[in-house]
Amino acid sequence: MYVSHLSLHDFRSYRSVDVPLEAGVTAFVGRNGQGKTNLVEAIDYLSRLQSHRVATDAPLVRAGADQAVVRAAVVRDGRTATLEVEINAGRANKARINRSPLPRTRDLVGLVRTVVFSPEDLTLVKGDPSDRRRFLDDLMILRSPRLAGVRSDYDRVLKQRNSLLKTAGLARGSAREGALATLSVWDDHLATIGAEILAQRLALVEALKPYVGKAYETVARGATRDDAEITYKSSVVEPVETITPTVESLRELILAELARRQKDELDRGISLVGPHRDDLLLHISAGSERLPVKGYASHGESWSFALALRLAAYDLLRADGDDPILILDDVFAELDSQRRRQLAELVADAEQVLVTAAVPEDVPAVLAGARYQVSAGEVTRDE
Ligand SMILES: Nc1ncnc2c1ncn2[C@@H]1O[C@H](COP(=O)(O)OP(=O)(O)O)[C@@H](O)[C@H]1O
Ligand SMILES: [Mg+2]
Repeated sequence: MYVSHLSLHDFRSYRSVDVPLEAGVTAFVGRNGQGKTNLVEAIDYLSRLQSHRVATDAPLVRAGADQAVVRAAVVRDGRTATLEVEINAGRANKARINRSPLPRTRDLVGLVRTVVFSPEDLTLVKGDPSDRRRFLDDLMILRSPRLAGVRSDYDRVLKQRNSLLKTAGLARGSAREGALATLSVWDDHLATIGAEILAQRLALVEALKPYVGKAYETVARGATRDDAEITYKSSVVEPVETITPTVESLRELILAELARRQKDELDRGISLVGPHRDDLLLHISAGSERLPVKGYASHGESWSFALALRLAAYDLLRADGDDPILILDDVFAELDSQRRRQLAELVADAEQVLVTAAVPEDVPAVLAGARYQVSAGEVTRDE
């Protein structure tokens, strides 16, 4: 798929801008702070209804405005659809396809599929478990958009259960009995929805594994495909080798662990069991040793691993049958010349690649294509 036209209204720094686009490579070049990332962020937002830069929508609406609109014409198998999202400060967002409103904004998720590479990707390796959980969840939602609903149900259950744990932890006597009875209902919700997320993540990690090894081999100097390994670390199951447990068995495991840790949970007033406590473990080989990337890998190895995760996500989405749109936001300036070349060669044949760079020299030669100058919110095509 590719975006053939992007228009923004009151999105970030843009009052109003129209950018015609083509399949193949397009580079946006301009000094820092001119609005390059804002353009590609808009396309990424359309894909997931979530920005790769901020957790909330407020910064996406131009300061002083109360509504931003992102509209894109998307071409897939020769057919064009116009997707649109209206981001409302303090009110529900709205989505449209070919100008008709969608019943739920969430139904837009996954119609455009993007993979973004950015300097922040290093946090995939160096950051908290929550950064890696988000990586997995974003990818699983792009592959099965209905999981966006499952994810938000889980977040809601977690919030309610946590506030109940706080109340129950402080209550005494019959009030405590009552709270514990209610808690068992929420245990059930958490286990049911948590098991579904857990099953999806376990299957996703299995599917990603071979792609991560292959991508690491390509971007890391002298590495083989066995040198990078990902493992899902769960609060209820041991790392699984070949068998993926059923949703029902995961539900039972979560319930058992909740029962076992109930006293802890009541003492601390937070939920200690479930997919929100999990992590994606990253290991590299050094000789015969297997080392965690965090704390052991060099800067270059860490970058290679982060790139390998993104490339693996791209390969997996591509294997599903449709090329996602690749966004390389200011990423080449971060890489040494070898990784730069490797990455550029790997992505050069993607259906659409959008690159941002501060200076033209940061765009590798194999990524020749359309070029735009971005300056003070004006986007002009180089002739
Ligand atoms: N909600 C907003 N309203 C107005 N301006 C914004 C908003 N969000 C970001 N900006 C401005 O956008 C600019 C950054 O644009 P960005 O696309 O990140 O630049 P770059 O070209 O370096 O990628 C900054 O000048 C910032 O002040
Ligand atoms: Mg930028």
